[in-house]
Amino acid sequence: MATRSSELQDVLDAAREAYRVHARDPRSVASLARIFGALDSPAEPGRTGGTRLPVCDLLPAAADPARFADPSLRRLVETFLRLEPALTWRRRGGEAPNASPDFVDGHANAVIAGPGGLENRHDVWLGVSLVAPGVRYPDHHHAPEETYLVLSRGAFRQGDGPWFEPGIGGSFHNTPDILHAMRADDEPLFAWWALWSG
Ligand SMILES: [Fe+2]
Repeated sequence: MATRSSELQDVLDAAREAYRVHARDPRSVASLARIFGALDSPAEPGRTGGTRLPVCDLLPAAADPARFADPSLRRLVETFLRLEPALTWRRRGGEAPNASPDFVDGHANAVIAGPGGLENRHDVWLGVSLVAPGVRYPDHHHAPEETYLVLSRGAFRQGDGPWFEPGIGGSFHNTPDILHAMRADDEPLFAWWALWSG
């Protein structure tokens, strides 16, 4: 059976608790039960060693535990910071419809557990996005349903609906293949996503 580092297990435990506290949509609750149920079984380790991108310079500000009064969010960030040196941050590939011109160097994503992640598996995707101030992330979609947990200011959009700001601790559900996007205001956007593709 595959084994898992204590740093990774701590993040998964903290993410389960933070999502439990903050995700209210019944579709999210059902999806998260599947996701964290699957994560009870470790998968084979994926890529480790850590690769940062320029936007990661914003991480100390975006993921400062002192910013979080909520205990579940503070624990999530604290455990994340211990794991982060092992993560591989990547740019989103492919087309970038409606992205702002500074998007390429103004964002980074890291998969914690999921395809290409620290734990390489295909039943779930759990990871984070960091978006620099003023940057708009492209419209995108994917087959797995998704629940966001937002740890900063910043706005989100589904389809051609209005932009909305979940706020710190805000959570929302994306149905399969719905078009969605996000944009940072004058501070970095830091958000977690959990997708079920099992
Ligand atoms: Fe997404």
